[in-house]
Amino acid sequence: MTGRCPFSSRRGFLAAATGLVAAAGSATVARAAATEPLPAIEPFWGEHQGGIATPAQQHVYFLAFDLRATKREEVAGLMRTWTEAAARMTAGDTAGVLGTDTARPGADSGDAIGLPPARLTITFGFGPGLFVKDDKDRYGLAALRPEALPDLPLFNGDQLVEARTGGDICIQACADDPQVAFHAARQLARLSYGAAEIRWAQSGFNPAAAPGETPRNLMGFKDGTNNPTPKDAARFAKVVWAGEEGPAWMRGGSYLVARRIRIALEHWDRTEVDFQEEVVGRRKYSGAPIGGGHEFDTPDLAAADKDGNPTIAENAHIRLAAPANNDGAQILRRGFAYNDGVNLTAERWPPWRQGMEFDAGLFFLAYQRDPRAGFIKIYDSMSKLDAMNQFATHVGSGLFACPPGAQPGEYVGQALLGGATG
Ligand code: HEM
Repeated sequence: MTGRCPFSSRRGFLAAATGLVAAAGSATVARAAATEPLPAIEPFWGEHQGGIATPAQQHVYFLAFDLRATKREEVAGLMRTWTEAAARMTAGDTAGVLGTDTARPGADSGDAIGLPPARLTITFGFGPGLFVKDDKDRYGLAALRPEALPDLPLFNGDQLVEARTGGDICIQACADDPQVAFHAARQLARLSYGAAEIRWAQSGFNPAAAPGETPRNLMGFKDGTNNPTPKDAARFAKVVWAGEEGPAWMRGGSYLVARRIRIALEHWDRTEVDFQEEVVGRRKYSGAPIGGGHEFDTPDLAAADKDGNPTIAENAHIRLAAPANNDGAQILRRGFAYNDGVNLTAERWPPWRQGMEFDAGLFFLAYQRDPRAGFIKIYDSMSKLDAMNQFATHVGSGLFACPPGAQPGEYVGQALLGGATG
């Protein structure tokens, strides 16, 4: 699969390099390599795409593309090329077989050679523009557009930047190494030349929390406490995987809502901790719901103090986001912090600070079976009432239908794109 050149795969290179070092008599390096744990590989082929139920990695590199292809076959060809490269890279290989002819560009940029697979997952999604763009059914796919893939409505407070919003196709590359994630996105971007153009990109990171600990977000709160887990398979499937209610090509897939949410960190950092806790509805350091003692205690939304005021404020984030407040609606949150330097910013809440502020926040990624009964349902009231809105502004957005996984020999999205041109 990887050709005969010993360096034609990243792991091949690693093995060859280790061999050379050992042969040269460097016992220290050889011993270190022998005791290191094996690099973790997340499966690429399967019922579902990786990067959804996969425990969140530490890094993401996300790309949204505008399609330039004029025919459905070209889009299908792109997905086949991408699938093949993604399968190789998630296994720790180069995107293509490296040749020995150095007078030609390589089949891989080479910057991940020697790096472990780092649990790389690559998840593909289709935006509304694949089906209809500027009122045109470019690829004969309009009739196959799922009802669960509407154009997202404009929510209260949205300040979406056109250049960070939308996209006909997306790639979510997640890995425990930032260079492995970026490398994968970069190879796929190169392989798209002629068929697609990058529209926007976002990188993000999660802290390496201790095993069993919920990582903290940039606001200093544990984030991800109350999130569906694949350990509860029935609930997870109900919340995350598309079923018989939609088109056959999406069964076993999931819908991704991406939101670039800028957080006014300067404002937040000057806010009293007890007010921050009221905003979230949880204690900052323990993660426990207000009124509870431990992180995983069930929030008591009915509890009131002696004056009859709700213990968890009416406008607290976790109250408004709770299934109990949203006809049972749930989503799988799989977000990452982002930090893109500083910008001249005028805040939209008192004290209306202006100046150089961090362009940082949450790259919110949420998977669900149907966004109309998931993100759209939940965020509709949150966008109007959530106390967190004083600190958070949605500046980028996308909605994508991520098809089910592929089996070896197939490509992701084949059930949609593989038919005769309509
Ligand atoms: C800057 C933006 C945001 C931050 C910093 C943030 C942070 C948090 C934190 C700290 C929690 C409590 C711990 C947990 O259960 O994970 C939480 C819960 C939650 N958040 Fe957010 N969040 C943000 C935006 C959103 C948005 C846009 C949604 C949209 C639907 C959302 C949905 C939820 C849900 C569903 C929960 C669980 C609520 C429950 O306990 O049932 N969050 N978030």
